[in-house]
Amino acid sequence: MKKRKRIAILTGGGDCPGMNAVIRAVTKRAIYEKDMEVIGIEDGYHGIVNNRYRRLTYNDVSGILTLGGTILGTSKTANPYRYPVKRGGQLEFQDVSKRAIRNMNKLDLTCLVCIGGDGTLGIAYRLFKDGIPVIGLPKTIDNDLRGTDITFGFDSAVSIATEGIDRIHTTAQSHHRIMIVEVMGHRAGWVALYSGIAGGGDIILIPEIPYDTNSIAAKVKERNKKGKRFSIVVIAEGAKPKGGDVVIQRIVKESADPIRLGGIGFVLGEQIEKITGLETRTVVMGHLLRGGPPTPFDRILATGLGTKAVDMIEHKQFGYMAGVKQNSLITVPLERVAKGPKTIPLNHPMIKAARSIGTCFGN
Ligand code: F6P
Repeated sequence: MKKRKRIAILTGGGDCPGMNAVIRAVTKRAIYEKDMEVIGIEDGYHGIVNNRYRRLTYNDVSGILTLGGTILGTSKTANPYRYPVKRGGQLEFQDVSKRAIRNMNKLDLTCLVCIGGDGTLGIAYRLFKDGIPVIGLPKTIDNDLRGTDITFGFDSAVSIATEGIDRIHTTAQSHHRIMIVEVMGHRAGWVALYSGIAGGGDIILIPEIPYDTNSIAAKVKERNKKGKRFSIVVIAEGAKPKGGDVVIQRIVKESADPIRLGGIGFVLGEQIEKITGLETRTVVMGHLLRGGPPTPFDRILATGLGTKAVDMIEHKQFGYMAGVKQNSLITVPLERVAKGPKTIPLNHPMIKAARSIGTCFGN
């Protein structure tokens, strides 16, 4: 009697729309087509360190295609190689990877499917080097993963941000104000660039192009002179002025990447109001971009990537991530993904396109 394959799935890092759609696609195909056994690891890598997991049936993942968040839970602080432990009230970090690997080996897995962004997949790559058969799936609203043209969650975040920018237009026009919309994106500007273009932003500020406050003020004044008595500025949370630095909202000590960005929109708002004398207001969209149902595009992408992962398991393509290149599903070595975030190249066609219609990038 052929031994039934057993796979496990975990979701790590910031949640985003589409995570459940991916869990559904991997689980349904594994059970329905390949008769595999599927285990859901709870709360990201916390689950493999502390043996927290449950069996997933076909019915468990039925009806979750449109559900935001992740039914498995996730974490941004659980790194088995640098695990936060409280001792005598003090926070310290321990390498508990051996324990995690022992727990995985006890489960006798054919594969551990890690759904995550650069942090989670960086850890997945280390687990792979330590002998765990791992496959990665590209999740993040930031779209900053190397090796893939797009990550799931990005389209949903851009869609939510664009709806916010559309709404901000009416209040900007009514009050003749400068409205600044700050969006997430970590250290890359993909969300700001795409939602800025989709929302008709007059000024788009991204980390890849440090800005000059005076050139932003000049753009606003130029519009005013032409009778456009309002302006929309879309700014990435990781944007910064020339010769200046990012604005840090808080430090999360337990987290592998403790810095949380946020608030640059308020800093810029005050400066623009001082220089131009025009009323300015700032909106920070924050975690709204990570909530709610995935767009149809993200549901389709998630289903494609999730079912691709089962192919990769069948072909023992461990140590790889499923991704997209020119609309085709591909596989990418995790080693490449773990090399750090993918930022926007300065000659990106959409920067050129936006500039060609008069959009200002602050430089
Ligand atoms: O990586 C996703 C993301 O939402 C980033 O855009 C943002 O900088 C960060 O996570 C926020 O993290 P947290 O949810 O811990 O505040």
